[in-house]
Amino acid sequence: MNTQEKYRTYVNTACVKAVEPIVIREAKGAKVTDESGRTYTDLFAGISVVNAGHCNPEVLAAAKAQMDRLVHACAYVYHIPVVADLAEKLARITPGRLQKSFFGSGGAEANEGGMRLAKQFTGKQEFISLQGSFHGRSVGTLSITGNSGRKRGGGPYLPGCVQHPAPTCYRCPYAMSYPGCDLHCARELERTIQFNTAGNVAAFIAEPVMGEGGIIVPPPGYFQEVKRVLDRHGILLFVDEVQSGFGRTGRLFAIEHYQVEPDILTMAKGIADGFPLSAFIAREEVADAFRPGDHLSTFGGNPVSCAAALANIAYFERERLPEQAARKGATFMAVLKELQHSRPLIGDVRGLGLMVGVELVRDAQKSPASEAAEKIRTLMRERGFLVGLGGTYGNVLRFQPPLVIEPADLQMAVAALADCLDKV
Ligand SMILES: Cc1ncc(COP(=O)(O)O)c(C=O)c1O
Repeated sequence: MNTQEKYRTYVNTACVKAVEPIVIREAKGAKVTDESGRTYTDLFAGISVVNAGHCNPEVLAAAKAQMDRLVHACAYVYHIPVVADLAEKLARITPGRLQKSFFGSGGAEANEGGMRLAKQFTGKQEFISLQGSFHGRSVGTLSITGNSGRKRGGGPYLPGCVQHPAPTCYRCPYAMSYPGCDLHCARELERTIQFNTAGNVAAFIAEPVMGEGGIIVPPPGYFQEVKRVLDRHGILLFVDEVQSGFGRTGRLFAIEHYQVEPDILTMAKGIADGFPLSAFIAREEVADAFRPGDHLSTFGGNPVSCAAALANIAYFERERLPEQAARKGATFMAVLKELQHSRPLIGDVRGLGLMVGVELVRDAQKSPASEAAEKIRTLMRERGFLVGLGGTYGNVLRFQPPLVIEPADLQMAVAALADCLDKV
């Protein structure tokens, strides 16, 4: 059997619509090579993970050196130097007073842990999150996820989880427009707290820029206004930076665009350039709300992943990857917006840094062009470009390449996109 046949027979892929018909042999930087030797430009980075490029030599060298010393001991049973070093580094590079990290292996695990910590610190049990959000596939994180497409068949979910309308300006839930709206969606949080909860809310949980929800960038001032409401009610601000973190949006963490201090921040994906690792970090007084026995993760803080993360962050700092993302993303978006003028299928181009979404619509009423989006993903692949899909209706093309991508590759991607738009 070849790889695709083995996948069909032995890998449970029933949970996804389709696995892309590519068998990847190897990858380097922003290029992926299949088993026939064909090379693709990767504009999705394994769902926004390999921000420092596929198989970054510095990350690999650090991981290999660590592998020769220690692969596993359990970071919560013994002291491990590389775990301590990474925790210290994260305290330095995350915003505000965030200080103590708990390490896990994936994004959902980080969010679950953060939710538990928020409950224990506040003594409250409810959560407010955003409609259209995605926070993971465990029962707790699906409870705060605002998308029935992801939740279907998995309930019942945790009581006390409420979804508030999101700052989706292109499809404003209040039919308003920014700045005239005066951040109505943020102010309305007050009414959600008052009418949809029991006044027992531990945290408001949000992705600073929504990923799976279709690259939703809140307007300037959004999180400041949200924070004012939260402070009035003693509710924690919990930001899920699993997808938006590690330079993706042009800052190391996307919440930095909004100048507010989160109480809990979760990260995964881009933290170790592809090695499995996640963390939730909190202020010392919040983190110390855990009591012995409250939390643990056998693989969390795996030394090889932590070594990879440290090398990854060092590479970020030296190569100024967030700045690179900001620069390359601004040019890329400008060219895409230019393309929008001549291609009515493009309803909206939005993003921050190299977290860019192109929403496709069929008409002036903004009917989602979901089939066209899927077709375009296929046509792009046939032209040698790998793109992602997202959004509540699956009609948003997602461009989240490794941040080391060459600007020329982004230019060629836009030319290919123009051609594909003409073919659907
Ligand atoms: C914002 C956000 N949170 C959480 C997750 C879940 O991460 P994981 O798949 O590593 O559990 C994702 C995954 O796409 C995500 O985008």
